[in-house]
Amino acid sequence: MEPVVSIKNLNKTYRGGHQALKNINLDIYPGEIIALLGPNGAGKTTLISTICGIAQPTSGSVTVGGKDIIKDYRDTRSLIGLVPQELTTDSFETPWVTVNFSRGLFGKAPDHAYIEKVLRDVSLWEKRNNKIMTLSGGMKRRLLIAKALSHEPRVLFLDEPTAGVDVELRREMWQLVHRLRENGVTIILTTHYIEEAEEMADRIGVIANGEIILVEDKAALMQKLGKKQLVLDLKQPLSAIPESLASQALELRLDGYQLVYTFDTQADRTGITSLLDALRRENIEFSDLSTTQSSLEQIFVQLLEEA
Ligand SMILES: Nc1ncnc2c1ncn2[C@@H]1O[C@H](COP(=O)(O)OP(=O)(O)O)[C@@H](O)[C@H]1O
Ligand SMILES: [Mg+2]
Repeated sequence: MEPVVSIKNLNKTYRGGHQALKNINLDIYPGEIIALLGPNGAGKTTLISTICGIAQPTSGSVTVGGKDIIKDYRDTRSLIGLVPQELTTDSFETPWVTVNFSRGLFGKAPDHAYIEKVLRDVSLWEKRNNKIMTLSGGMKRRLLIAKALSHEPRVLFLDEPTAGVDVELRREMWQLVHRLRENGVTIILTTHYIEEAEEMADRIGVIANGEIILVEDKAALMQKLGKKQLVLDLKQPLSAIPESLASQALELRLDGYQLVYTFDTQADRTGITSLLDALRRENIEFSDLSTTQSSLEQIFVQLLEEA
């Protein structure tokens, strides 16, 4: 399959000398939801702005729908819907007027049936004739999505769609994004919420200090880097891990009251049986045991530490 967005050796240095993007290479395929996950300042907005033609690349190239974002700017821009990070939606206009107007800006013929569908998709049809300034924050965000979809783009960029949004609205947004994908739109979103990437994306690109440090299917990422831990609550605290157990992946916590064994979920053998045998030989007794699986959050922190 041909990528719908193809980024090759992309670099961006801002005037003043800060290099915000370092040799980015990434292909994005039709119909996928890809999350660019990274902390504040990582370069996510810069990357999106560059693809959308708002920021100029210093070197490298980007194609959208097979066309160059600089040479064929108008063509590529019309394939793109952008929902920016900053909200600017206070207006006396109505959703109906403003979304139809946005479509016109891209030189598309009016299509009231399509705009109705978009407004229904984002659950704003009932509010179409209300003044925008009377809408709630969540509705304004959805209105921005409707505007971004007004000219039937193939690719939708959502820059931090739920930053500062409460948990309930965040879930609503996630459902909306999944519905949009069912319409065939490719979705590229940025987030610094791991949970959001985990919830929404098919693929996750981790970005830190202007570099993409990894791109992976979500499931594969979770599986590849996911480790499980066996947590044993000890009856008597240990001052140190006994010599005979030193070769195991063990860690003492809670002033020696907790012994934590980390094992690879992919390995043939977990090593738990032999660990328990060894504990018995050492007369180490425990009152409780439980297992935990590392979350994407822990994986992410680990990756950033290694980057
Ligand atoms: N217009 C600009 N001029 C100079 N530096 C900028 C500009 N915009 C962003 N930066 C810097 O580039 C880096 C990446 O910023 P940004 O792309 O906004 O990151 P993110 O969206 O991941 O938080 C940051 O260090 C930021 O301060
Ligand atoms: Mg940003």
